[in-house]
Amino acid sequence: MQLPLEVDRESSLNLQTQVFEQIRGMILAGQLRSGQRLPGSRHLCQQLQVSRITITLALARLADEGYIETARSVGTFVSREIPEQALHALQTDLEHKKPTGTPAHDRSRLPKIRSHTLVNELAHRIAIDFWVGRPDPRSFPLRTWTRLTNKRLLSAGSALTEYRDPTGVPELRQAIADHLRPARGIIAEPEQIIITGGCQEALNLVCRMLMSPGTHAIVESPGYAGASYLFESFGANLHHIEVDEKGLEVAQLPDVTNAVAYVTPSHQYPMGCTLPLDRRLELLAWAVKTDSYIVEDDYDSDFRYVGSPLAALKALDSANRVFYVGTFSKCLGAGLRLGYVVVPPELMPAARRYKALTNNGQPWLEQAVLADFMNTGGYARHLRKIRQHYLGKRDALLQALGSAFGDGTTIGAEAGMHMVWRTPDHLPAAPEIITRALNCGVGVYDLSPRSAVIAPTRPDVERYLIFGYSSLSEKQIATGIERLADAVQNKTRAEDAHESSVCRA
Ligand SMILES: Cc1ncc(COP(=O)(O)O)c(C=O)c1O
Repeated sequence: MQLPLEVDRESSLNLQTQVFEQIRGMILAGQLRSGQRLPGSRHLCQQLQVSRITITLALARLADEGYIETARSVGTFVSREIPEQALHALQTDLEHKKPTGTPAHDRSRLPKIRSHTLVNELAHRIAIDFWVGRPDPRSFPLRTWTRLTNKRLLSAGSALTEYRDPTGVPELRQAIADHLRPARGIIAEPEQIIITGGCQEALNLVCRMLMSPGTHAIVESPGYAGASYLFESFGANLHHIEVDEKGLEVAQLPDVTNAVAYVTPSHQYPMGCTLPLDRRLELLAWAVKTDSYIVEDDYDSDFRYVGSPLAALKALDSANRVFYVGTFSKCLGAGLRLGYVVVPPELMPAARRYKALTNNGQPWLEQAVLADFMNTGGYARHLRKIRQHYLGKRDALLQALGSAFGDGTTIGAEAGMHMVWRTPDHLPAAPEIITRALNCGVGVYDLSPRSAVIAPTRPDVERYLIFGYSSLSEKQIATGIERLADAVQNKTRAEDAHESSVCRA
């Protein structure tokens, strides 16, 4: 490590004091942290072109005053405890140097943006967590991934040191095109595909191309907050279109032009319905008529448990109006941050330029390993395996809810990794259930921004709970619902008894 030190031979301060002051300043400012190793004195002499004695004396003074410690034949380190008077001196110094007048950049003028959260801040309080959209960590194909990673690293050549095509590793784009044809009915050339940092970056890319303040953005209600908030941050004019039991109410699309419509037709987020064919065709016709684009987010379409999956909306897109967005966050893991977007061909040159401006492309290694995983058949096997596991978990949840509560309706259980439960009318509203569940270590969620949902047009929003089941074992699911039933029903019975005794009195 080289420290950013400099000596000024014209200065009135001698060289030893200059070195002392600069290292002390870095320690007090937190640039060098306690316990951190300092470069050796020989290295410092060479760097600053000063004599060994200058450095030795500067370090000795730092040690005498308690800023550094030397462990014989190990090295020199910043002290674990910096002398109190030194910290006090620094604070006084900073007070004196506080800038006065208007800051160069007035932070109150920064646009106020809202953002969704996919990180469960309460996780540490929860033993059994029905948090939405998480794959089971035990299902990650760790052994194969490690083998493929090692193999790629050993033959990396210049792949780690040189810039590559910002749109992504060609083998991965080809593998995705090959996967989409049979799995989703999409005929796309690899040259139409851009590898992104998950769905979220794909949505950003689309926004950079199509959105400016005032652009009409159509979103589902309830819908995915990660899309709505993003469009809002671009200054879009948002239209929240209601979702009924079939999905987006396409007949309510506004009569506007050059709009962007964001939809989750395979498994609506959060309600879980699958948009039927007639509505899909109507939506596509609307896009053509209004000169608009559709963004199809197919985030968890790999999991379908009942019937055959409907082909993607993109598969019907003869007019090239659909951006198809996919992610590996749900089938492999969100930590990989890998997704992609299939771009209408005429917009691809612009999309490539925006991708280069954003980050010059995703990290090479994960892309290359994923390509190998897909091309050697591992991905298809992995999907088959986890689909089967998730089906077992889904059934366990349906069974547990049925036997604990009897009534109540589940929605969207035919596909995906979560389902929505319309609570029986005698139970309290969703926020109250969430609090009671939390008190017995169970995490359940409602249709609110804390589950990345916004539902501005839904009056009965507090009657719904959303259960992610893919990351829990069947046993955990059964126990979690039992505990939930105890927490909710015992209290409800106690309250009923209390109320009726009050009435009798
Ligand atoms: C509808 C929807 N789209 C996209 C995502 C996030 O995808 P990614 O991790 O690829 O950004 C989520 C995450 O839960 C989601 O629910």
